[in-house]
Amino acid sequence: EKYNIAGIDVNMGCPAKKVVRSGHGSSLLINEETAFEIIRQLSEATKLPISVKTRLSFDGNQNLINFVKGLEEAGASLVTIHGRTAKQAYTGKADFTNIYELKEKIGIPVICNGDILNYTDGMQKVKNLDGIMMGRASFGNPWCFIGEEQINDEEFLKLSPIKKQNFINGVYHPSLLEILDAMKFHAEKLVETKGEKKGSLEIRKHLVQYLKNFPGVKDYRKRLVTTDSLENSLAIINEIKKNFEEFLEKRPSLGEIE
Ligand SMILES: Cc1cc2nc3c(=O)[nH]c(=O)nc-3n(C[C@H](O)[C@H](O)[C@H](O)COP(=O)(O)O)c2cc1C
Repeated sequence: EKYNIAGIDVNMGCPAKKVVRSGHGSSLLINEETAFEIIRQLSEATKLPISVKTRLSFDGNQNLINFVKGLEEAGASLVTIHGRTAKQAYTGKADFTNIYELKEKIGIPVICNGDILNYTDGMQKVKNLDGIMMGRASFGNPWCFIGEEQINDEEFLKLSPIKKQNFINGVYHPSLLEILDAMKFHAEKLVETKGEKKGSLEIRKHLVQYLKNFPGVKDYRKRLVTTDSLENSLAIINEIKKNFEEFLEKRPSLGEIE
């Protein structure tokens, strides 16, 4: 509470073997009483809102509605459900059918998660639910959060460097220049918040994600994953800018760079 955080989200969805074996993450979908006790104790210990992130079930044999009802009674004020079982891990497709049904049976807000590609896709899938959560779609693509609402919001446009003409059929397609500028901004911010040593190593996996739709930059990607300073990363970004000068206004996700 003294750190002024907004709330505590308890992870009851992680399918990683070592997490499950030690009784954490998605194993709580099986050990329901422990899950409820965690939420009960947390709710008693703090005034902060307690939420839970979990999955449809552990292996298809658990009842999602009963589980979430128990969490609600124990004090959870919101749940986010990834539309896969823990057993599925990241295979198959996320299925929200049981999540829509869950919402009809409980009182607290329900957020859906899994395979949402962008804001527009999320708005089509949200239906009776209270919100969407996106994970992997945002890797190297912070523009996935831009939808019709944002692109028509004059105040938002004033604050942001995004360009209306790059929003096509509900999806934002950044130009190469926007991508390179975002990479620079992201790297500087991460180093600012985490320090040079940690930040400059952690940024590497993000920087390569920004270039995923972009042919002809394999060598740059290789160099970006092995840099060990912010200065180096920024130098590589600048080099790409210079060498691809005539493509800076092209949009890689539309295949405009071949
Ligand atoms: C590399 C990676 C790390 C993740 N770490 C966490 C985590 O620490 N806590 C959590 O609740 N979920 C974590 N997740 C799961 C995501 O939050 C999300 O539930 C899952 O990726 C499905 O959503 P998506 O298809 O939008 O990515 C992680 C997923 C990935 C791919």
